[in-house]
Amino acid sequence: MPTRRALLAGAAAAIAARPGVAGLSETTVTAAPAMAQIVPAEYGPTAVWAYDGAVPGAGLRVAQGTRIQRRFVNDLPEASTIHWHGIRIDNAMDGVAGLTQAAVPPGDEFLYDFVVPDAGTYWYHPHRNTLEQVSRGLTAPLIVEEAEPPEVDRDIVLTVNDWRLDENAQIMGGFGNMHDRSHAGRLGNYLTANGEGDLQQDVKWHERLRLRLINAASGRILRLSGLGLSGHIVALDGMPLKVPEPFGVLVLGPAQRADLIVDVTAEVGTPAHLVSEERDGGYALATFNVAGVASVAPRPAPPPLPPNRLAPLDLGDARHVELRMEGGAMGGMTAARRGMRHEDGMGAHSADPVPMRQLVQNGLAWALNGVAGMPEDPLVEASRGETVRVRMVNDTAWPHAMHLHGHHFHVVGESGQGPARDTVLIDRGQTVEIAFAADNPGSWMFHCHMLAHQAAGMMTWMRVV
Ligand code: C2O
Ligand code: CU
Repeated sequence: MPTRRALLAGAAAAIAARPGVAGLSETTVTAAPAMAQIVPAEYGPTAVWAYDGAVPGAGLRVAQGTRIQRRFVNDLPEASTIHWHGIRIDNAMDGVAGLTQAAVPPGDEFLYDFVVPDAGTYWYHPHRNTLEQVSRGLTAPLIVEEAEPPEVDRDIVLTVNDWRLDENAQIMGGFGNMHDRSHAGRLGNYLTANGEGDLQQDVKWHERLRLRLINAASGRILRLSGLGLSGHIVALDGMPLKVPEPFGVLVLGPAQRADLIVDVTAEVGTPAHLVSEERDGGYALATFNVAGVASVAPRPAPPPLPPNRLAPLDLGDARHVELRMEGGAMGGMTAARRGMRHEDGMGAHSADPVPMRQLVQNGLAWALNGVAGMPEDPLVEASRGETVRVRMVNDTAWPHAMHLHGHHFHVVGESGQGPARDTVLIDRGQTVEIAFAADNPGSWMFHCHMLAHQAAGMMTWMRVV
């Protein structure tokens, strides 16, 4: 893992603040305010909320099948939880405040204890007041290693955060801002990889890198390409692709991940870059300075990663569910029933639709099947082992990143069955059908991972019994 000044300073501070538990520091994850140097030093540090003192947190790296036990210590000024994004986890450990556990109050603790069944690139973040807590920096990678990892020279995790900073490099508030909630979400003005605006790494010519990319932004869709790096996408959202795809331009929605295996093709003295493509060009999210030669000959393409064991789909005998996505700016939604705003405590349901104006006064802008916020009843109650198909119709003027907890799903359509994922981007006006084997019992959230949209009502849930 790359070293970070902020990590060292923060970890030392966290240990100092908790006398007597220094020896337990490896078995805890502490969320607390911290200072982090995410902008060039002349601007000074930024006040953030961090896991174990760093943004992103140093995170965890474990072997597939490991039982993880981590005591979550909440030293934030407000209640929080940890959601282990993409892990097919025991429902009680899923970390959703108000659905799978009570939020952990400030000063309190919660023991997360679960097994990681799948190898791959995952991450964790709070699931209470998620928009604000993630935007303040509470994100960290969770890497699960294959028993037989692919042959690479270096394994590099790159967690991308999108910050909205003011002129003093401090995080801007306004999390209730209706413009963000009803448009593209909370977009920042400063991107970092591993907490640095200009991440530098030394590599060699023809060195083979595994890049684990994590989009931990609150709302930004990333378009990533390589300059002087060439290779393949070998996994999406942790799950290996049956056939690695050439890495050209990779679109990563909020919460999505990709594992790349790339070779450094830039020559000695010419840096290689991971580029974030923007409307007006692009810029380097990470720079790889090429010094020295790893091998003279180029290498053959990487073989696929060993597969994770997902239950096969039974598409012929599946349960069909329809999900209509409505609302937002320029969406024409005039009314919706009001659900619970569970993350902020139980709100009032409304049996009848309430006018849009009134929803907006309550911070709501979106509805799924006519309900803005968490509905009382699940979208579907599936029996364990059943295949569920959800046809999502995006009747809004905005893209959305729909994420299902506790399972991975496949996009299904004319062209067959796509790779397993936990989050899918749906363009405005687009219809996307997903299918998954409902084999993990419990109550599972299904929501937009553009966190301002989620906060503004774009969430529902499913139950597997
Ligand atoms: Cu990454 Cu419901 O969350
Ligand atoms: Cu959305």
